[in-house]
Amino acid sequence: MSAKEINEIKAIAGSYNLENYDQVKDTFEWEDAAKELSYFQTGKVNAAYETIDRHVEEGYGDKIALHYINGDERKSLTFNEVKHQTDHYAQVLKDHGVQKGDRVFVFLPKTPACYISILAVIKIGAIAGPLFEAFMEEAVKDRINDCKGTVLITDKELVKRVPQKDIPSLETILFAEEIDALPQAPAKESLVEWVDLEDGLIIHYTSGSTGKPKGVLHAHRSMIHHIISGKWVLDIQEDDVYWCTSHPGWVTGSVYGLFAPWLNRATIVIQGGRFKAENWYQLIAELKVTTWYSAPTAFRMLLSQGEIFKEYDLSSLRHILSVGEPLNPEVIHWAWNNLGLRIHDTWWMTETGGHLIVNLPNEKIKPGSMGRPFPGITVGILDSEGNELPRGSVGQLAIRAPWPGLMKEIWGNKDKFNSYFLYEGWYISGDLALQDEEGYVFFQGRSDDMINSAGERIGPFEVESKLIEHPAVSEAGVVGKPDPIRGEIVKAFITLRTGFVESEALLEEIRLFVRKNLSAHAAPREIEVVDELPKTKISGKILRRKLKEQELQKLHA
Ligand code: WT7
Repeated sequence: MSAKEINEIKAIAGSYNLENYDQVKDTFEWEDAAKELSYFQTGKVNAAYETIDRHVEEGYGDKIALHYINGDERKSLTFNEVKHQTDHYAQVLKDHGVQKGDRVFVFLPKTPACYISILAVIKIGAIAGPLFEAFMEEAVKDRINDCKGTVLITDKELVKRVPQKDIPSLETILFAEEIDALPQAPAKESLVEWVDLEDGLIIHYTSGSTGKPKGVLHAHRSMIHHIISGKWVLDIQEDDVYWCTSHPGWVTGSVYGLFAPWLNRATIVIQGGRFKAENWYQLIAELKVTTWYSAPTAFRMLLSQGEIFKEYDLSSLRHILSVGEPLNPEVIHWAWNNLGLRIHDTWWMTETGGHLIVNLPNEKIKPGSMGRPFPGITVGILDSEGNELPRGSVGQLAIRAPWPGLMKEIWGNKDKFNSYFLYEGWYISGDLALQDEEGYVFFQGRSDDMINSAGERIGPFEVESKLIEHPAVSEAGVVGKPDPIRGEIVKAFITLRTGFVESEALLEEIRLFVRKNLSAHAAPREIEVVDELPKTKISGKILRRKLKEQELQKLHA
């Protein structure tokens, strides 16, 4: 197929007039998004091929694919180089016997090797399981065990947090440093494994209000959702420098940090190291970032640093987006007054695989709302029987299923998967919301006990289970407590076992126990010792709702 023919097909998605939201919403077909992908012509499916190899074949091999920045370290790779390295990693995986459908975990900091590893796994038809770099032993172990991962790509530092003897399925551990050092022979034949649209692509573990984290499996068909939302919501253009601040271990970091931008041939920024306002602004100025996708917590932290942004040239910025938690109108106003840009909120979930409620670049923004349904997406606000409520009422936020990015399954847990689809034809998000006459959706909270701290989803059950493993803790109830910067913080109420006396040192020890074994983001920032926890009369289950109510009353007192 000639470049001209390809461009004619690409023009199909381009032919929608995004200035006219209502018209696009009524006429958009997901099929037109699929036409943007090469598999639509060739019949050959592989998301890693579409992400990198395709651009090389279409003559963009010399374009910069990524800028890596970490402290004083700088590195840039072209699409040619990323393809070459991905092939190299893919060959190593093949040499170790990895086969289509195998689960290969990637536990690496935010470095080019992390992105390359994920693509290499996908290229050979295996399923990538990216892990957030801050996970500790238990979090790593639970995830790999759940879907019986056989291979892990990590480094010499993070491997210390992999309890190998407790992960029986794990056959091979590969170190990125060692793969990089191996001689790189040009691949003799293509390493791409052509798969089916329904074959597994990536598995992300995410928390709910009960049980251990669940493995949300996405299929290759998600790339249809990724490419079009990348074009329309991220508004990716040829010369953009695009920076998503999330780690690929979270779905934002994989879908909008890797797939969507690279399917659209953008130059991405990979930034290592911890959050520091000065470094972030410096990065934008130095790399001339045009498009920036981050989270309200990060924006609030920047805001709290006052005027230091004035010391940096941020004039390259054209488009800012947010996700993960409610975006405060105050933050929107700050960006508008100081950067001259609106922050575009987006709403979606690990399970939904892509944007569902968005603010398209040219639409009117209503501060306090998450935006309107992405074209092709129908929102319903449902009552407790699954009936649609009229506009303006608060109810369960549901989406007409299916759509291309929707998860394929919850690994090994059909009941859990089915619980999202209690009402015929709807996916239930677990969020509460209202939709106004113009279609804008306003977030009202969760209908369950899930905690959202700094945009990260935390299951209270996981934290409670870890807490009661500490010898001093008898019972625990964990809730989200409102916090001006993080949205919510994890707060634990505990009762002590007899023989233990409350002290600052003991509480700190308990906090560190969770931090060391589970992960830093899930460790309670506050622990309160109580004599007794509120429980249901019949089953004796801890009433988190009650704890939360008491906490909110204290705040408002
Ligand atoms: C939950 C999903 C995939 C996106 C990152 C988080 C909350 C997400 C918003 C928003 C208010 C939001 C919801 C949702 N959430 N975006 N724009 N405004 N709340 O993905 O970890 O799967 O969490 O995050 O409660 O259900 P996640």
